[in-house]
Amino acid sequence: MRRIPTGVTLPAVYDDLAAQLFDFHESMLHDRVRTESFLRAMVQEVRPGDVVLDIGAGTGVLSLFATLAGASRVHAVEQGPMADVAREIAKRNGMDHRIDIINDWSTGTSLSEPADLLVTETVGNIGFEEGILSWVLDARERLLKPGATIIPTSISMVAAAVESWHDYKEIAWLKDPLYELDFTALSDFGIRSMLWVDLSPVSLVTKPATLTTVELATTEEKEVGGTVTVAARRDGLIQGIGCWFTAVIAPGISVSNEPPTKVPSWSQGFLPLPEPLPVSAGDELVITIESDEACTRWGWSLGIDSPAELIWTTPIEPPLPPPRNRPGTT
Ligand SMILES: C[S@@+](CC[C@H](N)C(=O)[O-])C[C@H]1O[C@@H](n2cnc3c(N)ncnc32)[C@H](O)[C@@H]1O
Repeated sequence: MRRIPTGVTLPAVYDDLAAQLFDFHESMLHDRVRTESFLRAMVQEVRPGDVVLDIGAGTGVLSLFATLAGASRVHAVEQGPMADVAREIAKRNGMDHRIDIINDWSTGTSLSEPADLLVTETVGNIGFEEGILSWVLDARERLLKPGATIIPTSISMVAAAVESWHDYKEIAWLKDPLYELDFTALSDFGIRSMLWVDLSPVSLVTKPATLTTVELATTEEKEVGGTVTVAARRDGLIQGIGCWFTAVIAPGISVSNEPPTKVPSWSQGFLPLPEPLPVSAGDELVITIESDEACTRWGWSLGIDSPAELIWTTPIEPPLPPPRNRPGTT
C-alpha cells in the first residue's frame, strides 16, 4: 500500500493503484477456502440482533455475511478507496440500511455503540504483519463490549528451515558483479527483507514448528515472536526460514497457508539468511522470529545448537505492509 505525499501528482503509469486494488479484492473473493471459512464463522457466531464491527472491510463481504447471519447493525471500517465500492455493494444487495461504511483507519474511528462481535481479516502471510494485533487491541479497548466475540479467535506463527535455491537465487545472483558493476548493496537489502514466496513442501528441511499462538480475545502483547529447536531431517543447505500461519477463525473452523498453498490469497514468508548454512541430518536448528511493538519490523535467526544473531528488516517509511498476494496468484 503506497501513501502518496500530499501535493504530489503521480503520472498515470505509476498510479496503478486502482488495478492493484481490483486484483487484490477480486482474488480474495475468489479464494473460497478463505472466504467460506469466514462465512461459516459468521453464521456460527453472530447472534440475531448483534452489533458487528468489521475492521478492514474491503468490498464489505464479511459485513454482508454478518447481515445475512442476523446482525442488526454492522460498522464496516475501511481505510482505502474500496470503501466507496463497498457502500455501493451494500446498496445493490439491499443491505445499506444495516451496514454503515466508515472510510477511515479503525484506530481513528469511534462508534455510537460498542460492538458485540469483531471480525477482521487483516491476517498477513506470517499472520501478524498486516497489523491485526494493533487493530484488535485498540478495538477491545474502545469499540467492543467486554467479552465481545472476536473472529479470528487465535493465530499461530509456524516456521521451518528451508532449502530453496528457487527462492534464494534473487538474492544470491546480486552478490556477483552485474554488468561489471557491484550491486551487493541490493542483495544486502534483500537479506534484510521478508520475501513472499510459494514454498514447496520438499524445500522444508525440518518439520514445521509453532513459534507462538496468540489468543486475540485475551492477549495484551503488541509484539509477537518465539524460538523453537527442530532437528534437520536430512543433509541440506539452509537458505532461509519459511514462515506461515494457522488461524482458528472460530471454534472448529481453521485456515492455514502452510505449503503447498491451498489459499491463493496468501503466500508464505521466506526470511533469508546472509549466507547459506550447510546442515547434517540430526543437527538441532534453533529458529527465532520476533517483531517490534507494532509488528512492522521483523527479526529472525537460525543457528545450529544455539541461537544466532537476529537479522532485522530495514525500516521503511511509511511502515505499511505490502499486499499479501503477488500479481497473478489467483
Ligand atoms: C485483506 S483485506 C480484507 C478485505 C475484506 N474484509 C475481505 O475479507 O475480503 C484487508 C483490508 O483492510 C484494510 N485495513 C487494514 N487495516 C485496517 C484498519 N486498521 N482500519 C481500516 N482498514 C484497514 C485494507 O485497506 C484492506 O482493504
